[in-house]
Amino acid sequence: MIEEAAKLLARSRFAIAFTGAGISAESGVPTFRGFNGLWKKHRPEELATPEAFRKDPYLVWEFYRWRMDLIRKAKPNRAHYALAELESMGILKAVITQNVDDLHREAGTGNLIELHGNIFQVKCTSCGYGEYLKESGRLEEFLAQSNLPQCPDCGSLLRPDVVWFGEPLPRSALNEAFRLAERADVVLVIGTSGVVYPAAYIPQIVKETGGRIIEINTEESGITPIADVFLRCPAGEAMEKLMTRIKGLI
Ligand code: OAD
Ligand code: ZN
Repeated sequence: MIEEAAKLLARSRFAIAFTGAGISAESGVPTFRGFNGLWKKHRPEELATPEAFRKDPYLVWEFYRWRMDLIRKAKPNRAHYALAELESMGILKAVITQNVDDLHREAGTGNLIELHGNIFQVKCTSCGYGEYLKESGRLEEFLAQSNLPQCPDCGSLLRPDVVWFGEPLPRSALNEAFRLAERADVVLVIGTSGVVYPAAYIPQIVKETGGRIIEINTEESGITPIADVFLRCPAGEAMEKLMTRIKGLI
């Protein structure tokens, strides 16, 4: 199975990766739906919706500050690094992620499409203001405050620049992801339950346009029935083995 996956990738013309929370599990970032998943402790409808934010912005901000703090301490793992290496080898053309944790960027992936936003990015609820807290140097200050964060330009409430339930995905990211999926001859799907749309269309588009699907997951997912190769294995271990095989082929 690993051999087959390695061959598909090494011979690919335009390979892409599509990732979900499972790729960051080994970095200590909780997944959403798995055992001990985030949504078991916090009901998403209470926290990750525009309605929840209107009703109780303090609670929503408390949750996001907690997640930001947890995520900023997390480090990319072998799987994130392997994807960055595959890109520098010229095999992988892009990583499309549903994750907001920034670990692909930390690992060095250059062409990254974030379908659900980025937890370190905040935006104004009224004007066009946006801020990437890792670059503006205000992350510490932001996490230390317990009051509601205000827009430096207009004074309105700031919000996390992530996609909440019931909200559309950022149009340019989604269009770019669809365009890449149509072009791809191989998609490496890692650590996603494949049940959240429109993101879950990505591997389906690759398949429908004649490409192949390699899936890495510790469990079967919504993608497994259409996967050409399914590696039932934690992401870090699978990617390490896969990289060794690929390097032996090229
Ligand atoms: P889920 O939590 O739904 O799924 C995580 C997947 O990772 C599951 O299929 C697990 O079996 C798998 N997994 C867990 N540990 C793994 C490991 N070490 N190696 C490989 N696989 C592992 O997360 P997503 O599919 O990313 O959306 O969820 C999709 C979206 O739903 C999220 O982006 C988020 C959520 O609601 C928004 O916030 C808009
Ligand atoms: Zn503003």
